[in-house]
Amino acid sequence: MASFVVILGSFTLKLLVSEGSSSCYPRLNRFSSPLTTSPYSYILCNFAFLSSPPHPPLNSSSEPKTPPVPNDNDTRPHSVTDDRELMRRAASILETSCNPTPKVAFMFLSRGSLPLAPLWEKFFMGHEGLYSIYIHTSPEFTDEPPTTSVFYKRKIPSKPVHWGTASMVDAERRLLANALLDCANQRFVLLSEACIPLFNFTTVYNYLIKSRQSFIGSFDDPRVTGRGRYNKRMWPTVSLANWRKGSQWFEVNRNLAVEILSDEKYYPIFRNHCIPPCYVDEHYVPTLVNIMSPEVNSNRSITWVDWSKGGPHPKQYVRKDVSMALLNQVRKGFNCTYNGYTTSMCFLFARKFHPSTLEPLLRLAPALLDSMN
Ligand SMILES: *[C@@H]1O[C@H](CO)[C@@H](O)[C@H](O)[C@H]1NC(C)=O
Ligand SMILES: *[C@@H]1O[C@H](CO)[C@@H](O)[C@H](O)[C@H]1NC(C)=O
Ligand SMILES: *[C@@H]1O[C@H](CO)[C@@H](O)[C@H](O)[C@H]1NC(C)=O
Ligand SMILES: *[C@@H]1O[C@H](CO)[C@@H](O)[C@H](O)[C@H]1NC(C)=O
Ligand SMILES: *[C@@H]1O[C@H](CO)[C@@H](O)[C@H](O)[C@H]1NC(C)=O
Repeated sequence: MASFVVILGSFTLKLLVSEGSSSCYPRLNRFSSPLTTSPYSYILCNFAFLSSPPHPPLNSSSEPKTPPVPNDNDTRPHSVTDDRELMRRAASILETSCNPTPKVAFMFLSRGSLPLAPLWEKFFMGHEGLYSIYIHTSPEFTDEPPTTSVFYKRKIPSKPVHWGTASMVDAERRLLANALLDCANQRFVLLSEACIPLFNFTTVYNYLIKSRQSFIGSFDDPRVTGRGRYNKRMWPTVSLANWRKGSQWFEVNRNLAVEILSDEKYYPIFRNHCIPPCYVDEHYVPTLVNIMSPEVNSNRSITWVDWSKGGPHPKQYVRKDVSMALLNQVRKGFNCTYNGYTTSMCFLFARKFHPSTLEPLLRLAPALLDSMN
């Protein structure tokens, strides 16, 4: 992986990977999240994505021949709760079907509320028409932000997510499908409630819209936490040579979003055979893209996270950790390639930020989001 271009430099305030010989890989051996309910009860129902919760079968004679295509200016989250119908509609929205100003879809995968929402509100302020927001929460979370919020009524019909299982990828696909329904969306960023923006909206928007590649962390990790998670039963559909690992927090363009959503060949294999300690959300998209369109991927994530402390979880930043020096380190402390040239702007977002960081982040917001820094 000489082409994994983020150079992990040394003047990095210990923010970075520091795991001896494997320091050329981002450390991702991740959350072995406490799966309190039996993880297997869910996984055993393979294809749960398409079949649960039970829904009346679509009566094919009553099904319209051509799926109803939403109006060009229909940007509200849809109300289709049936995943299969949703995927079908999403895949039917062709890139050519409309040609408005391109938008970036910000897709939040969250358990509940978005504690850092006030920072994001500042980020989005004044840029209406250039972004769309979609939120997937646990279904029992029904709070709605104030009508003045950019997050008001942006929740999509959601289903339970068990961290580390395929239900996580199902939720990602649900977000993608919803976002594809708006044909203006050209770039699709997956974020969590612990993510923050590192640059102002204009900078983020231009970086993504003008990029010739997508940003999916994807590398061949020879360790037990990488290749060790490959299951021979995936062969021959997925080979060990195909197998990749990367952060789940991807950014894709529209073509890739359609490709991911249309995949019916590889996903069932992952559902069946990538079960903890194989984490499907860390392997499915990186491997799929490596098989289908490796040339469109930069192989790097644009969402920074700090694995330096070691162990299964990345560092969570709390109030006392937040400083402009920290943020600038992430904003400018790396080298990577962008559209063929070298840049120090490698990360547009960062995680994981505890709710207590909101206050200092808001204090730094002018420097972070407005200035020429
Ligand atoms: C990035 O590249 C510049 C110019 O080549 C170099 O001075 C700097 O040390 C590099 N930074 C890192 C983190 O490697
Ligand atoms: C399908 O629905 C139509 C009207 O809703 C009904 O008349 C027809 O009998 C149904 N067909 C089947 C196979 O259930
Ligand atoms: C889009 O919205 C405008 C006003 O907001 C409305 O006049 C127009 O009919 C809508 N277009 C479609 C295709 O619904
Ligand atoms: C990303 O990795 C794939 C192989 O997995 C390679 O074909 C592609 O050129 C890489 N992209 C970059 C930008 O290095
Ligand atoms: C956004 O940030 C860029 C630098 O990253 C700066 O040049 C630009 O002026 C900023 N835009 C606004 C509206 O603050």
